[in-house]
Amino acid sequence: MQVELLKDRLLSQYTTLKIGGVADYVAVVKTEEELVQALQFAKQTVAPVLILGEGSNVLCRDEGYQGVVILNRISGYTAKIKNNSETFLTIGAGENLDKSIARTVEDGLWGLENLSSIPGTIGATPVQNVGAYGVEVADLIETVNAVHIDSLEKKIFSKAECGFGYRDSFFKTPAGKKWCVTSVTYALSTVPKPVLHYKDLATLQTENETDQNKIREHVAKVRSEKFPDWNIVGTAGSFFKNPIIKKELFIELQKTYEDIPGHENEFGDVKVSLGWILDKVCNLKGFTKGRVGLYQNQALVLVTEIGATAKEVDLFVDEIKKLVAEKTNIKIEREVLTV
Ligand code: EPU
Repeated sequence: MQVELLKDRLLSQYTTLKIGGVADYVAVVKTEEELVQALQFAKQTVAPVLILGEGSNVLCRDEGYQGVVILNRISGYTAKIKNNSETFLTIGAGENLDKSIARTVEDGLWGLENLSSIPGTIGATPVQNVGAYGVEVADLIETVNAVHIDSLEKKIFSKAECGFGYRDSFFKTPAGKKWCVTSVTYALSTVPKPVLHYKDLATLQTENETDQNKIREHVAKVRSEKFPDWNIVGTAGSFFKNPIIKKELFIELQKTYEDIPGHENEFGDVKVSLGWILDKVCNLKGFTKGRVGLYQNQALVLVTEIGATAKEVDLFVDEIKKLVAEKTNIKIEREVLTV
């Protein structure tokens, strides 16, 4: 079967920020074979390729995309027992992350439950090393299967080759962007392995919770209180990364803002909570300009109204960056990818 190519499609319908102009072609690929067909078409027409999952961490330009946008919908869920306490679970890159996590919980496979309710696909998890509530996929990923966009070579990336960092990986580098993830293999525990040290999970920790369903439900509840309803407003979760700053600057900031949350990393630098800074230092929680704003319950989350443009977001983001720099001397970076 030949992959279907849709002409002149608005990208705003494929992104959770609900922003993005017209793409020349959109290909919805459900198998690796269809992916290769779409890539071959792009090669023949000398068109650039953009891979999207559910578009939950991207800001697409108002100008759209002069090339082929591939919507990765490759499916699959295969478990392989490794030993008494671990199973390798391979999931298709186009599978929805939260639905896959629901399945792991049903199957009693531990590891991903703290990432419940995060929008997006499995294929996106290694790209930005998706993380929440004390767990990052880098802790769980065994291998990543991918196809090269130009050469069509297939490769299995080891965890080391993925080059994981905080919301970062090889797949975000120029060379890495040339690979389309087709499936991800996670090493999951078949014995209870709760990770409950994050402060939002404190009640579970006190109760020594080992019911995976309860942990998943708790995480979903915490998230629903902090994040807007993706079906109503445009959002891509945290819009910025939590900045990693020099210890000297952190100590300086503590003199004025003694409660500023920060965690020292292995290099002696400190990761600070930008949500806290935007809220408590800059007083920007709920700050809105036209159709773009910072969410009233979590200042790190940018929200847009229907009709907002990428240009409006860019201007708003520049203003936020400037305000943070003026107050704290911190240069902040986008977590959301601009494509
Ligand atoms: N805070 C405020 N006011 C705010 C927002 C946060 O005071 O408006 C404070 C909180 O009270 C807390 C601290 O800032 O003391 C950190 O806030 P939170 O626990 O909500 O987490 P975050 O650092 O803002 C990160 C991730 C989220 C992830 C949560 C939970 C990044 C960029 N974001 O947010 O990931 O869900 O931790 O683990 O690392 C995403 O990447 O899109 C994302 C949503």
